[in-house]
Amino acid sequence: MLQTATASSSIVPPVMTGARPMLAISDLHAAYGQSEVLHGIDINVAPGEIVAVMGRNGMGKSTLMKTLMGIVPTKSGTITVDGTDVTTLKSHARVAKGLAYVPQGRMIFSTMTVQENIETGLTVTGSRKVPQDLYTMFPVLLEMKGRRGGNLSGGQQQQLAIARALASNPKVLLLDEPTEGIQPSIIREMGRTLKKIRDERGLSIVVSEQVLSFAMDVADRVLVIENGSIVHESLRADIDEAQVARFLSV
Ligand SMILES: Nc1ncnc2c1ncn2[C@@H]1O[C@H](COP(=O)(O)OP(=O)(O)OP(=O)(O)O)[C@@H](O)[C@H]1O
Ligand SMILES: [Mg+2]
Repeated sequence: MLQTATASSSIVPPVMTGARPMLAISDLHAAYGQSEVLHGIDINVAPGEIVAVMGRNGMGKSTLMKTLMGIVPTKSGTITVDGTDVTTLKSHARVAKGLAYVPQGRMIFSTMTVQENIETGLTVTGSRKVPQDLYTMFPVLLEMKGRRGGNLSGGQQQQLAIARALASNPKVLLLDEPTEGIQPSIIREMGRTLKKIRDERGLSIVVSEQVLSFAMDVADRVLVIENGSIVHESLRADIDEAQVARFLSV
């Protein structure tokens, strides 16, 4: 890694040393046909850690997320979740091993109800009932559980997409640009929600982002992806915001 910071602060969980990574991505390459888009990504995410992967449009954020989920095939390299190699598994099997995904644009089933949307996330758990704690986390979804997904606001749909992902009881939650198209006050609320999810469930979170203030709010560590390679890494406590902002400016 280009820059490894060592300082810690009380708000950074004790994640940087020792513990086996919850998600380990090693020398990951992915391509669309002949065109390689990820050129050897290495990221370790500790238990309970929130990592933001920042980068401009077209830099490879969604490709990374999709490759982790098995939607884009891995060309070479490995992905392990809590010590289990998932590199060759199909998407649903990766979900069963503890990966969950909130896609860019949320991809809510617009004609299905809120409750039915969440139920689609339950398949790997063997349960058919939406756990009450999801509705406790997102009270607005309880209020609207009979409403069609397509009739929710953008912020409500984002909560629904997160609830659907959490329904599979993941160890690692991946979110692809969750703040896209969401207004600032709702973005702040989403930051609080993600930290609450991490604190209550102890899961690891990887979030791709272009909004630096959001990443500074939620992430323990910030990475920058450029043209399919990680070009910068810093702990939130040590971040040079101006330097990261330069990576993000066009
Ligand atoms: N299905 C595809 N087929 C071919 N090339 C693709 C495909 N999807 C993405 N790409 C290319 O891969 C590169 C990375 O795209 P990707 O969608 O991962 O970027 P991103 O960082 O998520 O961008 P954005 O912030 O706009 O969502 C881009 O050059 C893009 O054109
Ligand atoms: Mg994208």
